[in-house]
Amino acid sequence: MVASMAKEVERIDLDVFDAVAHLPPAPVFLVASGAEEKDWNVTTIGLFNVFSLFPVTIGIGVKTSRNIYKLLQETPDFSLNVPGLDMLEVVKFCGEKAGKGVNKIKETGLAVVRGKRIKSPIIKESLMYIECRKLKDKEFEVGDHTWFLAEPAHTEVNVDYDKSQALLYWDGEYRAATKIVAPKEG
Ligand SMILES: Cc1cc2nc3c(=O)[nH]c(=O)nc-3n(C[C@H](O)[C@H](O)[C@H](O)COP(=O)(O)O)c2cc1C
Repeated sequence: MVASMAKEVERIDLDVFDAVAHLPPAPVFLVASGAEEKDWNVTTIGLFNVFSLFPVTIGIGVKTSRNIYKLLQETPDFSLNVPGLDMLEVVKFCGEKAGKGVNKIKETGLAVVRGKRIKSPIIKESLMYIECRKLKDKEFEVGDHTWFLAEPAHTEVNVDYDKSQALLYWDGEYRAATKIVAPKEG
């Protein structure tokens, strides 16, 4: 029998925004898009979800005011790049600086190259990346964000990928997941 964890604790009410902010941390990504090299740009994105495993379907939530939204409208694909802890300053910059009229790839000095199976660039410094092909008819608005659903077209990961190096975001703080509490079985 699994012991019950329930015990008497004192709790406080949270408003809806605080409730979201208190949820455990989520990954943060650098999303790159653009069909032509001259248009390529990068934005920090935290709203991400795996919508299905069979077939693998992932989605990102983007506000219409973002430059990356315009690029996503014009481009059949994007790349989802996992930044390491050493990319914190780039992640902050790409999450603060609006890309309209600003080439954030040049400004940050990121090394990019066209994806193997997509027109958009991938970011070479990232720990891993997924080349994503947008799914037609799978773009929808929910409140203040538009969700773009996509299927992976190609993925590469560093051979020495260290999961503890992936950047997480929690209520204004950046974190790393460094402790394994139950190792994988088998
Ligand atoms: C940690 C973090 C997560 C973010 N997540 C999102 C997101 O999921 N969707 C979004 O539209 N903007 C998000 N933003 C805000 C954009 O990255 C920011 O407005 C950026 O300047 C937009 O750049 P762009 O205009 O070049 O697309 C996030 C910013 C930060 C710092």
